[in-house]
Amino acid sequence: MSLELPKNKIIQGDCLEVMKDFPDNSVDLVLTDPPYNIDGNFDMKNLESKGKDYSTNKGEWDSIDSLDKFNGGFLNECFRILECQGSILVFASQHNIFSVGKIMKEIGFEIYNIIKWIKPDAMPNMSKSRLKQDTEYIILGIKGEDYTFNYNESLQIEDKFSRKGKQLSDTWISGKTKGGKRDKHPTQKPTWIIERLLEIYSLEGDLVLDPFLGSGTTAVACKKLGRDFIGIEKEEKYVKIARERS
Ligand SMILES: C[S@@+](CC[C@H](N)C(=O)[O-])C[C@H]1O[C@@H](n2cnc3c(N)ncnc32)[C@H](O)[C@@H]1O
Repeated sequence: MSLELPKNKIIQGDCLEVMKDFPDNSVDLVLTDPPYNIDGNFDMKNLESKGKDYSTNKGEWDSIDSLDKFNGGFLNECFRILECQGSILVFASQHNIFSVGKIMKEIGFEIYNIIKWIKPDAMPNMSKSRLKQDTEYIILGIKGEDYTFNYNESLQIEDKFSRKGKQLSDTWISGKTKGGKRDKHPTQKPTWIIERLLEIYSLEGDLVLDPFLGSGTTAVACKKLGRDFIGIEKEEKYVKIARERS
């Protein structure tokens, strides 16, 4: 079954159910920040309290029974929905990157880059049992043989490892709070990073899907940069925030 795509709309629901109704090859870019299952993967043993765990729980939505099954479910649907020259950008951390990367390759995505986002303002490791995790990743997978890559635009971007006019490094260093305080969602992404991704990997008028919209950062950035979007989010409180923001 197919339906007219609900462009520039935020849909409340489980993305697996919602995406089932989307036609094949209908979206130009998927840009998404799925649950990392942080609590499910790690015991943050606190050496000072003799092994008592710190809670790293972000909310019920971040607790996943089978991470591979969950990632396989949404990534397969994204592959089907993407245009033949479409691409996907998936945020990940050390908690889910192995599962996401392995499944993306099994499905048929070619992994073209893994962008490292280093956050100077990351939280310290409260358990003191390992190094501070200040890096998140963005995995770029392409579906077919070609994809949108605005190389010339990327040359204009400056970063700690990249001077204007030179090839942009895949290591980006900037805080999660750059551009304003985050208080809408426990894992809200800063708009600068979503805007940068859209500028490099999409064109004006493209249709961008975010199946884990959260507080709506992808929608906000799409609106600003003239991209169409579809956002899916299952929690009512975040849908409300996303609609207010975008
Ligand atoms: C990591 S957060 C996204 C945060 C977002 N990038 C932002 O800037 O606000 C992931 C979101 O996915 C939602 N979510 C989890 N499972 C879902 C599902 N099956 N369908 C739709 N949304 C889901 C959660 O409620 C959560 O808000």
